[in-house]
Amino acid sequence: MKKIFPLPEVYRLLEPGPVVLLTTTRAGHPNVMPMSWHQMMEFTPPLVGCMVSDRNYSFASLKASRECAINIPTVELAKIVVACGNVSGRLVDKFRDFDLTPQPATCVKAPLIAECFASLECRIVDMKLVTKYNFFVLEVVQAWVDQARNNPRTIHHQGEGEFMVAGRTLHLPSPKTSLSRK
Ligand SMILES: Cc1cc2nc3c(=O)[nH]c(=O)nc-3n(C[C@H](O)[C@H](O)[C@H](O)COP(=O)(O)O)c2cc1C
Repeated sequence: MKKIFPLPEVYRLLEPGPVVLLTTTRAGHPNVMPMSWHQMMEFTPPLVGCMVSDRNYSFASLKASRECAINIPTVELAKIVVACGNVSGRLVDKFRDFDLTPQPATCVKAPLIAECFASLECRIVDMKLVTKYNFFVLEVVQAWVDQARNNPRTIHHQGEGEFMVAGRTLHLPSPKTSLSRK
């Protein structure tokens, strides 16, 4: 029997993709922000929508530079991910304080994070929904994956300090779905 579920907790049911670390750089100051509210929007070119609160330092940095990197951590980095989300880049250097290694990207100024198994270099392609929803549409212009890391165990935010850790992989071949806008 289902019971009424509190509306402010609905986000906990709609499990998003992996928590990622959004990196930006502004005036020579690189920064890291954990983010779970993101969404694939297109296969090719790969478009990703993401919600970055205008209270965060990363918002100003992303808006000004119009580029960023999306770095995908695994469970080994979970504590660092949470710690990065509890402090602002306005006050601290998160790369230094959390022992994260910045690596130069090829297409954007934002650094990649060496400890993450994948990094996506992104440029903003649409800011129409930023004023109303803090929602940015990004195009992935370069993608990096450490293929040696088999079955990376990503972490998925479920609210209230809980994370689901990716586990078993099911292989169920099916025709590629068409989700394109065109
Ligand atoms: C697991 C997790 C997921 C988060 N997801 C988001 C998100 O999707 N969007 C957002 O604006 N902030 C999100 N946050 C909050 C920011 O990471 C947090 O406010 C951070 O301190 C902002 O850093 P900054 O001021 O250096 O940009 C999340 C935090 C955690 C721990």
